[in-house]
Formats: sequence, structure tokens, C-alpha cells
Amino acid sequence: MKGKFIVFEGPDRSGKSTQANLLSGYLEQKGLDVLLTREPGGDSVAEEIRKIVLDPAHKVSSMAELLLYEAARAQHTQQKIIPALEEGKTVICERYTMSSCAYQGYGRGIDMDIINKLNDIATLNLKPDLTLVFLMSDKYFAERGEYLFSDRLEREDEAFRHKMRKGYREIAAKTPNAVIIDADRPVAEIHKTVLHELVNYSILDG
Ligand code: TMP
Repeated sequence: MKGKFIVFEGPDRSGKSTQANLLSGYLEQKGLDVLLTREPGGDSVAEEIRKIVLDPAHKVSSMAELLLYEAARAQHTQQKIIPALEEGKTVICERYTMSSCAYQGYGRGIDMDIINKLNDIATLNLKPDLTLVFLMSDKYFAERGEYLFSDRLEREDEAFRHKMRKGYREIAAKTPNAVIIDADRPVAEIHKTVLHELVNYSILDG
């Protein structure tokens, strides 16, 4: 691929969106052509799937949930991300395959082999050049408050969120090109770390 593919991962409210926006602005100022997008969504079909899968009014089985995320991922990756990378754009995506491993694998208990297989099918094996995994400490996570948890996944109980967050740590440690970012720190400091990692991974010049 001509362009670079950067993924922002982590639990809800870990500051991914803020950092993705900051990075996108920074790269655009440097003259790069950037596509800032997200999962589930980023395309009209995938945004419709997003509404269904996140609607608290629905009761969704674990496997149906996984397949909905994978359907959205197939559409988004194949219709938007791959063409953008082929055009030489830098693609920044909030969430990607690691979210399914953490939420549906660790959180729901679905067999990781099934998830990995579906991820490969949905993405045509497209792997990120860099995955930044934003993790905050337990204390800080609790402080960010239940009041913010509003969609169907965010309403899952503490046990689910604990498993999902443990999952992120374990998966990040064994995924090539993945880095854990300490998300407890001030926004500007985290942004600096993000830029530093882009240099480390030869996405930006030092
Ligand atoms: P967002 O709030 O970060 O946009 O993500 C929507 C929710 O979907 C979030 O709670 C995480 C969840 N999710 C999964 O459970 N599996 C997935 O594969 C993806 C992409 C998101």
C-alpha cells in the first residue's frame, strides 16, 4: 500500500478521539492527505450497522454482535480504507480488529480463533502499520464516571469492562506494530508520545 494505516484502540473514554483528531490536524498541517475514520462506521452501510449494534433497545446475541461488527468492518475496510491507502492517503482509524478481540473475545468469551479468522476475512488481511492502544489506570477509569456510559456496549457491567481491558493489555503485548499508550496523562503529553511513536515506526521523519 502507498499510504500508512494507523489505528487508535482502547476502552471507551480513553481519549482516542481527542488524540486521533489532534494527530489528523498535525499531519494535515504537514501537508499529508489524511482520512480520519472510525469503526463501526465510516461508510453509509457501516454507519447503519453501527446504529443497530449500539442501540440499547436491542437484545443482541454475542455471535450476532460479532458478525455485525465484522460486516461493518468488511464494508468499511474494502470500500474506504483500502482505496484511500492505495491513493497514498494516511488513514487514521478509531478502532479496528483489536476491538473485536477485546470486546467480543475477552468480554463475551467468543473463541479467539473464530474472531481472528473473521477479522482476516473482513479486512482481506489488511494489518495496521501502527496500532496505538490507549489504556488508563483502574482508578482513572472509574473517575471518568458511569454517567458517560450510554450505548449498548458501554452499559455492560464492570466485570465485562474489566475482562475487555485486561484483553487489550494481553493482545497489545503480542500484536506486531502495537504500542500501549499511558492515557492517564495530560492531552498534550500524550500527543507528544503519539508523534514519537510515529517516528519510531518510520511513519514520520524524526
Ligand atoms: P465507539 O464508542 O468507540 O465509537 O465504539 C462503539 C462501541 O463498539 C464501543 O463500546 C466498542 C464497541 N466495539 C466492539 O464491541 N467490537 C468491535 O469490533 C468494535 C469496532 C467496537
